[in-house]
Amino acid sequence: MSQTAAPADLLGRLESCLGRGGLLTNADDLAPYAVDWRRLFPGRPAAVARPANTAQVAAVMAACHAAGVPVVPQGGHTGLAGGATPDASGGQVVLSLARMNAIRRVDPLGLTLEAEAGCILKVAQDAAEAEGRLLPVSLAAEGSAMLGGVIATNAGGINVLRYGMTRNLVLGLEVVLADGTVVDGLRALRKDNAGYDWKQLFIGSEGTLGIVTAAILRLVPRPRHTATALLAVPDPAAALRLLRAAQDALGDTIQAFELIAGESLALVAEHAGLTSPIAEAGWTVLMEAGSSLEGLREAVETLLGEVLERGDATDGVLAESGQQAAALWALREHITEAEARAGKSVKHDVSVPIPAIPDFLAAAGEALAAGAPGTRPNIFGHMGDGNIHYNVIIGPEHGSEAINRIVHDTVARFGGSISAEHGIGQYRVDELVRHRRPEEMALARRIKDALDPQGLLNPGKVLRAGP
Ligand code: FAD
Ligand code: MLT
Ligand code: ZN
Repeated sequence: MSQTAAPADLLGRLESCLGRGGLLTNADDLAPYAVDWRRLFPGRPAAVARPANTAQVAAVMAACHAAGVPVVPQGGHTGLAGGATPDASGGQVVLSLARMNAIRRVDPLGLTLEAEAGCILKVAQDAAEAEGRLLPVSLAAEGSAMLGGVIATNAGGINVLRYGMTRNLVLGLEVVLADGTVVDGLRALRKDNAGYDWKQLFIGSEGTLGIVTAAILRLVPRPRHTATALLAVPDPAAALRLLRAAQDALGDTIQAFELIAGESLALVAEHAGLTSPIAEAGWTVLMEAGSSLEGLREAVETLLGEVLERGDATDGVLAESGQQAAALWALREHITEAEARAGKSVKHDVSVPIPAIPDFLAAAGEALAAGAPGTRPNIFGHMGDGNIHYNVIIGPEHGSEAINRIVHDTVARFGGSISAEHGIGQYRVDELVRHRRPEEMALARRIKDALDPQGLLNPGKVLRAGP
């Protein structure tokens, strides 16, 4: 069965430029592209275009532009803000980058990797590893997320503390504009101050300004030794003292510092069958350091001894092997999936200044207990970046909008952000307007209008649809 509100001649044109199999219009084929990972934002695509190269992306964009039909770019569809899902009108074309998945080059001396937008993040990581290099973006969805989506969301993950957000890793970018113009900025340069650094506009723009078709990413030498430790801490303030001690002892070898509440580990035990090797704890820290120099493990052992003696940690495990380290990380990586199985939850991907984390957590807990009694916070995240996933499991009596407001208003009191890494998508469009200054929103609108005057690129995402 074919379903579409897009003009039939457009679909004919798309089919002729994409060839057989490059355009999906059958309802069964469209289904996987129609709803997000959390199944919160169901949509109805007119069709799914699956180009095989940049020229085909350009042809699709030019055809949709001429017909005035909106385009929704989609990568691995693991985004948590509903950004890659079309609306329910049946009039938007999904542009899937999945077929453009080639790794073009890994340069171990120049420390770069060039790949197409549909390349799965894990595949790119493995290609870097095969050359003894590290692509330091790591997130639990790396087996499905694609480089174009990672760049379009400016993804964070567990290694931001050491290597920065995805933005810090993009050296060169190729994009296709709303009207089909190809802009090739695939330069593998560390230093390039020649004019505006336009690629930054597209990184984190969630498919609203252009289509990412290929990128050159920065790699780093792969640390030869890693030390991974799981520690029970009495409270978030003690976790911060541990972070400070780790910074002093290990410097920039610390590559991950994650805070996990007892509730999160309980969810992982219940829904993923994985249990923590340390006795039940109110709060846990999972930290990792990496270096190619000798002595890392000894330095971490000394640090753990000191923090245990001071009482900033009450129990701890230092992984003895890569396998044990992976088992510790599995606890952390399964939280999101376990939360999804636990029922309905309201996600808050927030950041506050790092020293404010304990006070923010206390204030948000009090505000929720007063304003939404009976909700269950599932708190975890990238403490070393000030990024807390303050997710709240709710019952049928709770409204998600009210809970959003309670948490986000608390974030605002602490000078924080309502999205640290997941982006705005369609989920936080109204909250963005509440939490950004009018001049910032007006500036964003001017950028959008300059690059997409007809408003055809992912309308209703990041900014409200329309003028
Ligand atoms: P999609 O979901 O397909 O798209 C995301 C957005 O980018 C959409 O707005 C889409 O329109 C746009 N887009 C996609 N491809 C392109 C393109 N080629 N050109 C232009 N726009 C495009 N995120 C983090 O930052 N940190 C985490 O730690 C993290 N952990 C996660 C754990 C789990 C279990 C899950 C399910 C998700 C997690 N995420 C995390 C969210 C998600 O994985 C990231 O946002 C990821 O970068 C999305 O990549 P994707 O290919 O799936 O993008
Ligand atoms: C993670 O860090 O695991 C994800 O970004 C968090 C989430 O599911 O909220
Ligand atoms: Zn995260």
